[in-house]
Amino acid sequence: MESREDEDNWLRCASLIMKEIMNNPDFSLGVFADNLYMKNLVILTGAGMSAESGLKTFREMGGLWEEYDISEVATPEAWKRNPELVLRFYNERRKALLGALPNAGHYGLVELEKYFHVRIITQNVDDLHERAGSTNILHLHGELKKSRSTIDPRLVYDIDGWELNWGDLCEKGSQLRPHIVWFGEAVPNIEIAIQDAEQADIFVIIGTSMQVYPAAGLIDYVPRNVPVYLIDPNETAVGSERHVEIIRMKAGEGVAQFIRMARG
Ligand code: APR
Repeated sequence: MESREDEDNWLRCASLIMKEIMNNPDFSLGVFADNLYMKNLVILTGAGMSAESGLKTFREMGGLWEEYDISEVATPEAWKRNPELVLRFYNERRKALLGALPNAGHYGLVELEKYFHVRIITQNVDDLHERAGSTNILHLHGELKKSRSTIDPRLVYDIDGWELNWGDLCEKGSQLRPHIVWFGEAVPNIEIAIQDAEQADIFVIIGTSMQVYPAAGLIDYVPRNVPVYLIDPNETAVGSERHVEIIRMKAGEGVAQFIRMARG
């Protein structure tokens, strides 16, 4: 005889199948079953993910925070003091982004969608995961190619080209700012990211120095029995006691290595 729990699981499964059949004309039971048993692979990415695309990281030698002072270009105070300098800083980043292409690492993460339910939580403000074709991305620190109203944060716009200038206004007549989470500001998507981390079956960290919170604290929400991997060519101090499997490689070859390991 089946237990109450089995019965509940069967009912849940049957109702999911019915929903799929009704919503999806191309429904296939085989694909559905595969999806049902796929594991949740949650991936946290940082600036190193895009380094092989030619975009600078922040804290390495020659990184952006060596060239610029965070307090002058990436804080609400900087915006109040010298908005034109802030706009110029992000215009330069946007210009570099328009000339960049996704790299092998980004494409590798797309391939992983064949084997896992992949969720990418990125600290990056570039759109290289999207351009590579990943389908399930959460931006923690905003998006470089978008602007936002300074009086109504719900008003977010795509930026045409690379320039956002002083005098560019939202539909309510207020100045537009970069759609970026600056130091000292709340991270609106962190609660969603925490839920993702809690539901991970495998957690992979790629190309982040794990210096910036709350993003770096996500690892603490990953269940204790879940394997955690870190892909980075340099030594990274993960601020957590738990075991982390290190893949000491750049994103491109590290992701390829992870795919080989995951496929057995
Ligand atoms: N592949 C993988 N990792 C790399 C590569 C590469 N090719 N090249 C460098 N790295 C690693 C570095 O070793 C480092 O650990 O990428 C990491 C980059 O770290 P940071 O420059 O600190 O970038 P990140 O962790 O993303 O910064 C977090 O800080 O300034 C803010 O908002 C900004 O989102 C950013 C946040």
